[in-house]
Amino acid sequence: MNDKLFDPHRYEATRRPLLDAETLPGACYTSEEFFRREVETIFMKCWNFIGREDRVPEPGCYFSLDFVGVPVVIVRGRDSRVRAFANTCRHRGARVVSGEGRCHTFSCPYHAWTYAIDDGRLIGAMDMEETVGFERKDFGLIELRLEIWAGFMFLNFDPEAEPLETWLGDLPQVLAPYDLDAMVTTRRVEYDLDCNWKVYVENAMESYHVPTVHQQTIQKQKRDHNPPIPASGQYCGLFTRHKGSRALLEGMKGFPHIPSLEGLSAEGTYYILLYPSTMFGLTYDCMWWLELHPLSAGKTRLIVGSCFPESTARRSDFAELAPNYYERWNRSIVEDNDVSNLQQIGLRSPFVAPGRFSHLEPLVHAIDNWVLDRVLDP
Ligand code: FES
Ligand SMILES: [Fe+2]
Repeated sequence: MNDKLFDPHRYEATRRPLLDAETLPGACYTSEEFFRREVETIFMKCWNFIGREDRVPEPGCYFSLDFVGVPVVIVRGRDSRVRAFANTCRHRGARVVSGEGRCHTFSCPYHAWTYAIDDGRLIGAMDMEETVGFERKDFGLIELRLEIWAGFMFLNFDPEAEPLETWLGDLPQVLAPYDLDAMVTTRRVEYDLDCNWKVYVENAMESYHVPTVHQQTIQKQKRDHNPPIPASGQYCGLFTRHKGSRALLEGMKGFPHIPSLEGLSAEGTYYILLYPSTMFGLTYDCMWWLELHPLSAGKTRLIVGSCFPESTARRSDFAELAPNYYERWNRSIVEDNDVSNLQQIGLRSPFVAPGRFSHLEPLVHAIDNWVLDRVLDP
């Protein structure tokens, strides 16, 4: 069977139009071989969202992450620019930086080779003077592509990739009314999920599960279901028209609306999936993101970020009312996490077989086909 894992014929049923289509075979969610192909053809080639740049507010601030197994360090240089470096020592390959903090230089914990934070150049390497032809300038940390849109940082491992602007398409215009540049991150929470990254993305982009999974929380929000929004860029999205912030549970007190909202943004909430694996929720008074770091076929790290306009975060009642929002996310996100973990358990069964889609799952079908477009053999 596995020699056919990437054979396009095997996926003909998922390729059909939504209401004739079948869901992806279980192996797409459980096979390490399928996962490795996704890493190679998707995550190593795409613009991957890795958080807001306010995580490194001052020169010297840094954090490290291992993204699809690649150690990376993000640092704000003394020139205030944020850069990404491959976090692998040029001596014998140790991971140079762990955790997060603030520093003047990066020093490898193994033999203390020391690198500049601005350009990664090697500035110190003890006992190397007898090494024939060794020149420090040849052994700097390797810089990776990092681009920023409206305070959101994106990492790309592929030197040949198109610029972030092309990847985003018209998304910056669609979301312009939210004035995202003027938002600040007020909270960041990590969860470890026992599910495939696609399980989680699919869940985030369909409302079919809301009445059941979120019975006790966001189901109480009144909404109307609209078809996917038109998108020219590597994203897809839903817009729902309703009153009241989507980031609050019923009856909870919140903040004033973002003053710059206009057009659709003044009438409801956008749920955006920025391919491959970042979800943005944008509602009247704030935005939140779901950032996924795929670890293996069945393990994914989820990071949930909350952003409010700077003017809101400075309000004297911010500390009092922000927990109303945090409670909504704490509760509804755990509901999604739990059901996603259950789905993964079921998908591991030898009896798993493709299912069918409801008309409320157009984006699940779109996401699955987006993945197939990239991973299947030509
Ligand atoms: S591996 Fe980093 S200094 Fe030796
Ligand atoms: Fe959900």
